[in-house]
Amino acid sequence: MSTTSPIRMTMGPAGLSNLLERVDDGLAQGLLPVEVFNDEAVFQAEMERIFARAWMFVAHESEIPNKGDYVLRRIGLDPVIVSRDDSGQIRVMSNFCRHRGAQVCQSDHGNTSHFRCPYHGWTFKNNGDWAGAPHAQEAYGGRLDAREWGLLRAPRVDTHQGFIFASLSEEGPGLKEFLGGAAWVLDAICGMHPGGMRVVGVPERTQVRADWKSGAENFAGDAYHIDTLHFGNEQADYVEGLRQNNDFANALVLDGGHGFLCHSFVEMLGPFGEYSVYPAEIKERFDFSGLDEVQRQMVKERPPSVGNIFPNLGFIRFPGTAEAGKPPAVYTSFRQWQPVAPGVMELWSWQFTWNFMSDEEARPGYTAGQYNFSSAGIFEQDDTVAWEGAPRVAQSVWNRKSGMQFNYQQGTGGRVKREPDSTWRGPGVLYRKAYGEFGQMGFYGQWLEMMRKKA
Ligand code: FES
Ligand SMILES: [Fe+2]
Repeated sequence: MSTTSPIRMTMGPAGLSNLLERVDDGLAQGLLPVEVFNDEAVFQAEMERIFARAWMFVAHESEIPNKGDYVLRRIGLDPVIVSRDDSGQIRVMSNFCRHRGAQVCQSDHGNTSHFRCPYHGWTFKNNGDWAGAPHAQEAYGGRLDAREWGLLRAPRVDTHQGFIFASLSEEGPGLKEFLGGAAWVLDAICGMHPGGMRVVGVPERTQVRADWKSGAENFAGDAYHIDTLHFGNEQADYVEGLRQNNDFANALVLDGGHGFLCHSFVEMLGPFGEYSVYPAEIKERFDFSGLDEVQRQMVKERPPSVGNIFPNLGFIRFPGTAEAGKPPAVYTSFRQWQPVAPGVMELWSWQFTWNFMSDEEARPGYTAGQYNFSSAGIFEQDDTVAWEGAPRVAQSVWNRKSGMQFNYQQGTGGRVKREPDSTWRGPGVLYRKAYGEFGQMGFYGQWLEMMRKKA
């Protein structure tokens, strides 16, 4: 059982620039100082420099299909309402009342024309405009300026493949530029049928005593852990072939800190492994007309299987057991590593299915997803326990005094030659086999670049 010290150590704001220099020096040698995983100063800077600037995933359009639909989400530590207003436009609004800051909307999801604050009753339209207040005549001599007293709105909102992203910064690259090659990968993931995908059920959320970056770096390219940490699942006869994982996992490293693993299921399993090992009756319903030639070949032979879109949107599509004695089903989950406090995150997990499938047809994939990656998922439980180590090291006096740094040296030092696949025609750089930790290094390189730009 892990313990957390009641005394919290922090380097303070003055120590932060020194740490970022150490990170820069460290990354050049494949090293990372442990303080990045649990420190107040680092966490605050992440909120200001990354989470208040980057394009943050907040919801999928299928979660709010109708006018008036809304869901409650977060951007960094800020609670937001994601709504489809009466004109059909998607809005991302602060869930803090402009009057005295009470949380305006309290229910996780629903449909409404107005949000009414529980404290004094100020009321806002579903586009965020101020709409009225109790006793407005006596209290304010009439109406307040609806625009001036509306809910704060995220200055930029955009979508890609139905994924809604918001940026709290008015400046910076647009969504397509920010996603870069990850937009192309997302197109391939969701474009195996022109009808696209939808969310099934509501996202599950669990608090984990781990830093959000541990989830991000793991999904950005850590195939190395699979046949060790998860091997108990093979010993329990739940899965097969984990030992071959490193040979069949390719690392796709993209600019902007995004990274994916693409498993060569066809090399592993032959034609049966085509298209992420979807069963034949689903394979024949796919329609790849919206994909380019490279995407088509990729989804057929070595589809994206795991990934992280910077900073904190994870993805996994894998075959897994749906029910004892039944054939495996393929699940697709997007997940988010939501920071809560230094060394603590909330893990959000959305399950997706194809729009061409009914809810009944989606059930095996959903069940397989929950068995594998949910708070009770057999793989997720392995991962989250392992990730609890880093924040504990970061709070250890002994480790801090020793200048402890973690090892990311698979791709450095020239001890083993790592050549990119010269035949790859998609975006980014593809490595056959996933050794090298290039995805993780790409993630921390982007993290450092954003952390160095003061607000
Ligand atoms: S805090 Fe919302 S109406 Fe007063
Ligand atoms: Fe894992």
